Formats: sequence, C-alpha cells, structure tokens
Amino acid sequence: MYPWRETPSLPLCRAVLVRSPRELLSIAMAFAASTAASSLGLLLFVGLAAAAVEPEDKGFETLFRESLDEVYPAHCVDVAGLPGFLDGTYVTQSTAQYGMGGKEFNAWLDSYWKVHAVQLKQGHLCYKSKIIRTGFYNNSLEKGTVAGQVLFLETTPPRECYLGGVCNVFGAANDNNFAASYRVADEKNGGYRYALMTDTNVHLDFDIDTLAVIGSRKFDDHFGKLFHMQQGGGTHLQCEAGKGNSATDCQGDLFGVVFEQGATNLVDLYRLRAGKPDVRELVAHIPVPWAPGSLHSFGITDDFAIIPMSPFTIDGLSLLKGHDIMGSIKSMGDTTPIFLVDLHDGSIRNVTFQGAIHYVHVVNSWQNDTHVVFDASVFERQPFSLDNPAMVLSVLRNKTARDSATNTQTIRRYAIDRSSDSVTEQKLTHGPEMIDFPRVASSKYGRPYCVYYGIEWNHNGREYGSWALRKQNFCTGEVVFHYEPNNYLSEPTFVSNGGGTEDGGVVMTMRTNGVTGQSDHLVLDAKTMRIVSETRLPHQLGFWGHGAYFSNVAPVVIV
Ligand SMILES: [Fe+2]
Repeated sequence: MYPWRETPSLPLCRAVLVRSPRELLSIAMAFAASTAASSLGLLLFVGLAAAAVEPEDKGFETLFRESLDEVYPAHCVDVAGLPGFLDGTYVTQSTAQYGMGGKEFNAWLDSYWKVHAVQLKQGHLCYKSKIIRTGFYNNSLEKGTVAGQVLFLETTPPRECYLGGVCNVFGAANDNNFAASYRVADEKNGGYRYALMTDTNVHLDFDIDTLAVIGSRKFDDHFGKLFHMQQGGGTHLQCEAGKGNSATDCQGDLFGVVFEQGATNLVDLYRLRAGKPDVRELVAHIPVPWAPGSLHSFGITDDFAIIPMSPFTIDGLSLLKGHDIMGSIKSMGDTTPIFLVDLHDGSIRNVTFQGAIHYVHVVNSWQNDTHVVFDASVFERQPFSLDNPAMVLSVLRNKTARDSATNTQTIRRYAIDRSSDSVTEQKLTHGPEMIDFPRVASSKYGRPYCVYYGIEWNHNGREYGSWALRKQNFCTGEVVFHYEPNNYLSEPTFVSNGGGTEDGGVVMTMRTNGVTGQSDHLVLDAKTMRIVSETRLPHQLGFWGHGAYFSNVAPVVIV
C-alpha cells in the first residue's frame, strides 16, 4: 500500500496512476505546462506585488546628511518660465550640520542650520546660502564641540555641564533661530528689519543681502514683570487681520507672544508697530495656569488674538537639573484653555475646549457676529515623543520606525461661540496623511478663506516619506497635489499675482530628489500645482524650516 494512493489531497497523483503511458505523457506535459504557468503566474504575482510595494521614499535619508558648503557670492541664472510679477526674495532655511567635535544631535531641530535666499527679478534668479552664524554655532566652533544650549534631545555622547543644566539655561546663547524669518518696516533706515525666529524670546536680526547674522535684537521696552523671567516665545508673529501675510508682507502691525515665569505664569501679547522694530508694546499680560510648553503660533482676527494652550509644559527645574526638553515635558491634562485677547483694550476672555489640542501651526482664524473660529494642524496626541519622526533623527533615518508613526496630523476647525463660550471641533481632513506647514493667501489671514497649501507626509498611506504638496479648497471641496515619488518639498509659499482671485499666483518651494541628490527651486502654478519653472541649485539641501517671500514692490492685498 502506497500511502499516497489513499491520500485524497493528492488527486493528480492518483489520476496519473490509472492512465495509459500516452495519457501519462500528455498529462505530464499538461502538468509541466501547468507548473510553468503557475510559476509564471507566481512570478507575475511576485512582480506585481513588488511593483505594488515599490518604495516612494528613496533617498529620504539623504536629507539628513551634512550639507556644509555655502554659496556666496550668489549663483545667478536666467530661468525660463519665471513669472514676470516675481520681484523679490524667497528665503528658507535647512539643516546643515548634525553635530560637532564627536557629539551628534538626536533631534533635527537642534542642528546647525543654513539660510537660503533666492532673489527673483525679470526672469533672473540669484541664489545664495550661508550657515546661520548664531551664538550657539559660534560658541560651538570656539569650543570645538556642541556648546551649551537647551536642546530637544541631549547629544550622543552627552555634553558635560558641571552645574547640571545651568550652563544650558543661563550660560548659553539659546539663539538657534532657524524656523522662520520675518520682516518689519524700520523707520531708522527707511527699509526693513529682517529676523530669524524660533520658540524663544530672541529675534535674531540678519542682513538679507549678505546673510550675515547681526545679532539678538535689544528691545527698548520693559514690560516684563518684576522678578519674572522671560523664558520662551512664539516663532510666528501674526499680522493684523486682512493686512497681509503673518510676517512676510504685512502692511500693518505684527503681534507676538513671550512667556514670563516667576511668582505667576504669564503669556505676554505684544504689538510690534510697523516702523518701530525695537519696541514691543504690551497688549496684555495673560495669566495662564502653567508655563506653556509651546506657543509656536496663534490666531488673529479683526478684534482678537486667539491663544490656545496645548496641555503640556516644560519643567524648568528639570532643565536646570540637566535634562533635555523632551525629558522635561509634563502633561497638563486633556483639556485646552483658549485665551481671547481683545486687541483694542487688552481684555482677556478664557474659554476651554473639552479635549486636547496638540498643535504647532494655526492655519488661519477669523470672526463673525456669533463665533470666533480658528483652523489648526492638530496631532492625535502630544507630538514631542521619541517615536515621532517629526522630532527624532534616529526615527527619521529608519524607514521601519518612521513608517510606523501613527501620530497623524489633521486639519481641524474650532468654533468658539461668542455668547456661550462653548467650543466645538470639526475635522476637515481625516488622515492617514499628515498635514502641516499650512499657508494661505496673504489677503486672507484673519479673514474667512477657502484655500490653504501645506505639506503632506504619508501621502501614499503607507510611507512617511511619501511627500506631497497639498492644496485644499474648503469652499469647492477640491484637493490638488503636487507629487513626485522620491522627491521632498519644502513649505509651499504662496505669492499672489495681484489678479484678485484667492489662488491666482504661484507657490514657491524647494525640492530635493532622493535618487539624484539634487535640489531645485520650484515655482508652481497655484491653481494647478504644476511646475512653471525649476532651477537647479548648486548643492543638495537638508531638511527645511519655513519659507518666506519678501516682495520688492508693494504687495497687492485683496480684501
Ligand atoms: Fe512654524
């Protein structure tokens, strides 16, 4: 007895046994053909499966290589297709150096950065780039290693500080201002003052022509309370509603925030009047329940500043003991205080959203007779975590780790009822894509709007490094992408053509191709998100901060 004869799961073999030799041969041939076909099918399946999972984030890790070379004097070229209305300077920043003297940064935000300037005029483009010579960078050069500075994550190996963290908190420049740039009219020189910002109270003035750092601005104001210390501030100054972009073409005054800590915790809202960049006028001391972990951005309407406080803090004592920022974060519950500050009389109204709003960027804000409304890019949970690719270099550099990220960022709308103080939340996007770096048309900041532009990670739903630029129109429902697999794009910076429509103009961005390692300056048609012009840059750029466009001509603000 052959056991296989009795095995019902082998019908072909059993069938072969009862056939003639000729039949056997034909069956054998059929079997062979079948096997071959099966093999071919299998190969096709494998091929298709392979095609289905073809990575779209090739070369993503190259964004985190050191990029030390500078371009100065400018590299100039004529560019076909560059719109004639562009007459100004586009500025952005990117990571340059990830450590010094054998100590490596662990958070990309802690890096040494470059600033890039692209001057555009009559179809001509001039590009230049320099390391941002902050006090932190200069001190590091002097010491030959990473200098004292409050860092998001301690370096590897850790720095030595004999007084715990005191040398990072008090004995350091803490001026690693890389995130965003702004300008404000300056009556003293008849032009503008340009500054780089991050989440501190430091405005790092720089020369837009030479890209040299001038230094931390010395303000001629004294609104700080006695025995209080200013510890932090917001990166994004906000322009008066309807008067332009939050910083780059504001035709009115700017508003900003700093934190004070002492016997009480305060957020100070100040006004920086056009023409007087050295004086911050206090609008309001806002008593807050804890020292804010972050107030990176906030909202402005015709009458109010909207300041939502994400429910976390950074423990100052922990920093003094030598812990890094991410090791000093403490949750402050799961509700969100929101402060409405009257811009005219400084009065403060406190409302509470019954949930956590973990945001970095407010998209836009406005008011009507019944509500004050703001849209924000909101994380599912507190984002300063060790598994968040938006923070940690080792996660960004590891495909498995970064693709496992689940802390999605969706655009959400918060409406504050002006009579009842109730706050509602509406999700305007639903993931799994992660949307951030939102920008709207200059004329729409502080006003009802339809269109925003942003960066979208996880565009293909499976890879963090699948990276698109996204345009979404809330009024029509239209969503348009600019997407090329294996290409990585900086914040989409909208520039109006003055034609009177919300999306009439262009979007500027920097692009790095992960396969070729080449970077380009792109101009896209804002309506279609298709390329209008592209200009090869002399070197590869790193991971980006915000973009800004400073016009040489009076911007047209369409209200
Ligand atoms: Fe920002």
